Amino acid sequence: MSAFTPIDRYLENNRQSHLEQLFELLRIPSISADSTKKGEMEAAAQWVANRLQSAGLKTELIPGDGPALVYAETPPVPGKPVVLVYGHYDVQPADPLDLWKSPPFEPVLRDGNIVARGSTDDKGQMLTHVLSVLAWHEAGMPLPLQVKFLIEGQEEMGSEVLEAKLPEIAKKLACDVIVISDSSQYAKGQPAITYGLRGIAYFELRVHGPKADLHSGSFGGAVTNPGLALARILTDIKTPDGRIQLPGFYDSVVSLEESEREMWRSLGFSDAKFAEALGVSALTGEEGFSTLERRWARPTFDVHGLLGGYQGEGSKTVIPSWTGAKISFRLVPNQDPKTVGKQLREFIASHTPPGVRVEVIDLHGGRGVVVNPNSHFMKGAVHAVEEGFGVKPVLIREGGSIPIVAQMVDALECDVLLIGWGLDDDGAHSPNEKFCLEDFYRGIRASSRLWHHLAQ
Ligand code: BES
Ligand code: MN
Ligand code: MN
Repeated sequence: MSAFTPIDRYLENNRQSHLEQLFELLRIPSISADSTKKGEMEAAAQWVANRLQSAGLKTELIPGDGPALVYAETPPVPGKPVVLVYGHYDVQPADPLDLWKSPPFEPVLRDGNIVARGSTDDKGQMLTHVLSVLAWHEAGMPLPLQVKFLIEGQEEMGSEVLEAKLPEIAKKLACDVIVISDSSQYAKGQPAITYGLRGIAYFELRVHGPKADLHSGSFGGAVTNPGLALARILTDIKTPDGRIQLPGFYDSVVSLEESEREMWRSLGFSDAKFAEALGVSALTGEEGFSTLERRWARPTFDVHGLLGGYQGEGSKTVIPSWTGAKISFRLVPNQDPKTVGKQLREFIASHTPPGVRVEVIDLHGGRGVVVNPNSHFMKGAVHAVEEGFGVKPVLIREGGSIPIVAQMVDALECDVLLIGWGLDDDGAHSPNEKFCLEDFYRGIRASSRLWHHLAQ
């Protein structure tokens, strides 16, 4: 009998109840980007708070100008490190709705997966830590260190409330290490610890032309078309071989270590399988870098949406008065989103064709993160993940962003552990988002071991 037997027994006996709890949370459509969902945001925050409260934690809702922050803590344990679990209860919008095989907020089990918006990102992953603390509590075992929780409701749209509140609540959040499960394993059956995330700088461009839409027969050829002007600007930003043209963009980019490149090569990544899984006929990107390097450790530029002009049925001969684009740059350490904003404005000033005006609107941003892969906490996490998943984790970086993390690390002067239980093909932000049921349970088990190993 191991010291964990009471916890394991509790986890074994409560598999069904844990799944039902996750289903309850998944039924709340807490879409932070949707201003008509304020009530649902409150309901989700309250649900998380209630769960933490009933796991014996001192819990509060921290109100702000937007969805509340959920904060909770277990009692301090003198002489032991303090852990802060960060996660988010908000989800991305569910559309396009017609591509879902079952309604996004009516969770179901299909082919061994929990299918619902937020299942992997991040309700299912976040809940593993709540349930593991509950397991210690219910097994009558005092936690070997203090665990704090900060679960926010705006991760998917820029963390404004948390950013504003951070200076004020930094003392409350004081910790040695932040633990986050909001990323992926390397592959099915191969868990990972992530030691880097990219940052992001997100903008909307508006190209303003004539004061009203114009008949393209009468006026075409005599004025700059805002659609073409936008296309030209966008394609000028990144060359076909993947280099971003903003002045000074690469100045602060930290180059990859040879040892890192070597380590990633040994992961045996297959470009062919990857392309097939995505349904593309070729992979493209910055010359001189492998696919993993491009995704994890090199900056890039993407267009997310194009606005303006005629979008209806059939044809309409018009020169649109304006067009627009939602764009972002993924950043790597040590790039700064504010600097990128300046560089973008400078670039656009010198690339705007005559006859149109371009407006650059800042939406949100955050710096990237790199974690010391040799820290003492990292070693604890390796043990915990191995015990939860039965396989030793590999070290990876990820291309996604959790924009507030860099600021939290600075404000709290702490370490961070990124231990994701998701999979690359979970369809986060996409229709039919899923989370592997067994990974939910393995995640809870790994988390239950984590408190022990981080206390060593
Ligand atoms: N959980 C993701 C971040 C993530 C994705 C980490 C993939 C590792 C791998 C998070 O919820 C997310 O979607 N972040 C956004 C941030 C943006 C909306 C500000 C992202 O990366 O696009
Ligand atoms: Mn997430
Ligand atoms: Mn997300």
